[in-house]
Amino acid sequence: MELVVTEDYAALSRAGAEWLARGIIAEPDAAVVLATGNTPMGMYRELAEMGRRDGLDVSRLRVFQLDAYVGLDPGDPRSLYGWMARAVLAPLGVAEVQVVRLAGDAPDLQEACRAYDAAVAAAGGFALSVLGLGPNGHLGFNEPPSDPTAPTRLVTLTEESIASNAGYWGGRDQVPRQALTAGMAPLLAARRTLLVVSGAHKRDILQRTLLGPPMPEVPASYLQQAANVTVLADRAAWPFPVPDELVPR
Ligand code: GLP
Repeated sequence: MELVVTEDYAALSRAGAEWLARGIIAEPDAAVVLATGNTPMGMYRELAEMGRRDGLDVSRLRVFQLDAYVGLDPGDPRSLYGWMARAVLAPLGVAEVQVVRLAGDAPDLQEACRAYDAAVAAAGGFALSVLGLGPNGHLGFNEPPSDPTAPTRLVTLTEESIASNAGYWGGRDQVPRQALTAGMAPLLAARRTLLVVSGAHKRDILQRTLLGPPMPEVPASYLQQAANVTVLADRAAWPFPVPDELVPR
């Protein structure tokens, strides 16, 4: 695991876009899982801009949805698929047929999770994974406690996640109580992972993620045991020196 600290959010967004562009150029048919949430929005905008400026072939990319609220159809403005489509797929020019949805609107949710894990396995696992850090240490909607072996599954959101997600949709009662999430197991098996973290409100949970013992109460702490993880934080989130063991080599 390595930690890269940028001066501010704009620099984090540029560095994040470069990380993702490098990955796509190296492997144009990569299976990529992409988080929504506020933090990666800047890097997605930068990436789309880079694509327009320099050209970036995304025609063979396979994009996987990270998490989904239960019971929303994809046309609902709160649907995380819709957010990903507006923020990433449309600006980058990724077609809908290139996307594997996590179907929170499926009649059989267990089957939807099994189908998703089968699609990840058929793709040879995630080549690239872009994740955000929940205020309670969640990855996707792998809420604490989450075991590192947890598969893609149905979860009940914690109060903390309902509160933090209320910010996206204008109120707690707008936030569904259940979600599907890509599991810890497929996420931790990704060949390269970028965790983007911005803002002073993430400082404590980022310290526990990077330096605390890996534990189910902080699901993101298991990234310490995963391969090729780059944590990209702005100075507000990490105002400390970079610990020796996390200096990029
Ligand atoms: C949300 C999402 C995550 C996201 C995280 C952080 O609840 N389920 O996928 O990465 O919380 O969001 P933000 O980047 O807005 O802080």
